Amino acid sequence: NIIHVILTGGVGSRLWPLSRKSRPKQYLEIFEGKSLFELTVERNSAIADKVIVVGNTDNCHLSRAILEKKNVPYLDIVESTPRNTAAAIAFAALAADPDDILIVTPMDHIIEKKELYDEAVNEAIQKALKGHIVTFGIVPTKPETGYGYIESKGENVLSFREKPNLETAKNFIAKKNFLWNSGMFCFKAGVLLDELKHFQPKVYKKAKKVWEHNQDGKLDLDLSLEIPSISVDYAVMERSKKIKVIHSQFLWSDLGSFESVYDYLLSKGHPVDENGNMVIGVQNFTAFIGMKNTILVATENANLVLQKEYSQDVKDLYNELETQN
Ligand code: GDD
Ligand code: MG
Repeated sequence: NIIHVILTGGVGSRLWPLSRKSRPKQYLEIFEGKSLFELTVERNSAIADKVIVVGNTDNCHLSRAILEKKNVPYLDIVESTPRNTAAAIAFAALAADPDDILIVTPMDHIIEKKELYDEAVNEAIQKALKGHIVTFGIVPTKPETGYGYIESKGENVLSFREKPNLETAKNFIAKKNFLWNSGMFCFKAGVLLDELKHFQPKVYKKAKKVWEHNQDGKLDLDLSLEIPSISVDYAVMERSKKIKVIHSQFLWSDLGSFESVYDYLLSKGHPVDENGNMVIGVQNFTAFIGMKNTILVATENANLVLQKEYSQDVKDLYNELETQN
């Protein structure tokens, strides 16, 4: 079987105050009446036999409603607390058969040139059948520090480096053979689990224990808290020798931070002043004086003003606000 795994359990902290716990961005129907979640399901529905959603108690009903509307066979895994992507992917892999092919995607990407996406996914499936862990590489356009970088030689991966600092990212870009990791992966469930067991035995063991105690896909809180919180990029991708990369030709926009939302909106003709200042969210008349590349994020009850280049720091602010409440 080919299974599309959708990771939808992150808190979207880099999009605060647009993204709130009670109002997660990925379910707002803002793309011609469709949400990012729905677009993600549609993009893969011709290729996959089934969907596994790994989400949380706040959003599982929203995911279910869309999957039922679209009549897609699915399994719902509901985390009681986020333990990061290594664990989330492990749950999906444990729910599948070892030989099932998993296509793992987040739900906050916009992909254009669908026929090239289909081509890339089909190629990925062929490689995954041979036991590889496949990543989708994107030609980088700037030294973004929020992404992983894939050092490639053809389909081979010389190294994988998650979230480098700015200087390192600049070096990578200058070298020409580094691609951005799109954050989508394709592999056999059993292959990923073996690698996780090898490189992160504790994550594997604890996640397995949680999965074995699940009740109708709902995961126990206390057991979950024992799983080390690490992303699959650090846990497996930076270490595995089984990684291959597809040089993707489709258009890819990640809507995970305000800088990427800014770039996306700019490409769609959203208003921006002559100094690169932009309002995202509530569109009140706004004037910027003496500022460059500033983003005003305006919502009903909270505003954020940030320099575009500081988009990754919104996460820290979110965490600070969370601990104060
Ligand atoms: N179920 C679940 N549980 N999902 C999670 C959890 C979790 O604990 N944590 C994150 N996710 C989901 C997010 O909602 C998102 O859909 C996806 O997993 C990836 O997490 P992000 O937090 O968005 O990762 P990132 O953007 O920092 O980095 C990843 O994506 C980049 C491209 O967008 C990495 O794979 C990078 O290498 C990559 O460049
Ligand atoms: Mg992201």
